[in-house]
Amino acid sequence: MPKPTSSPASFKSKDRIRQGSKKILVLHGPNLNLLGTREPGIYGRETLALINRRLITQGKAAGATVTCFQSNHEGELIDRVQLAKKQQVTAIIINPAGFTHTSVALRDALAGVAIPFVEVHLSNIHAREPFRSHSYFSDLAAGTICGLGSQGYELALQSILRRT
Ligand code: DQA
Repeated sequence: MPKPTSSPASFKSKDRIRQGSKKILVLHGPNLNLLGTREPGIYGRETLALINRRLITQGKAAGATVTCFQSNHEGELIDRVQLAKKQQVTAIIINPAGFTHTSVALRDALAGVAIPFVEVHLSNIHAREPFRSHSYFSDLAAGTICGLGSQGYELALQSILRRT
């Protein structure tokens, strides 16, 4: 595995963030719209709508705006990452889902905007098929959480709210 040429964007950007203006973007990759019915033994029974509602409420309580976006299309996720730069998004939480293991282009988008991000997976990708162990995102991420189900998103948000 060659050494990465980009380094992770850090949370050391407090100075450009006004109090009460934190914007957090939550990105969900392909097939996560099926949560609730998709392989519940692996991904649980909670729907994406429920997970998103909880994150929005958690953010609101801390004075932050949480926006959630899911797409089954790589290009749409890339466009959303690029838009996040224009919108001065503070940090991103991303579950790239299947793109975790395939998408150089989505990785490049995150490197390109240099917005700190936390990578989340519902399942423990290291305890599944060997091809899931490799992520194109982990070395750029401020942190990664996997295997804790939907709580992983909440912990990621908690960490971002504390550190930004
Ligand atoms: C996933 C794990 C990926 O390997 C898989 O392709 C997904 C979901 C997770 O949240 O556990 O779609 O990212």
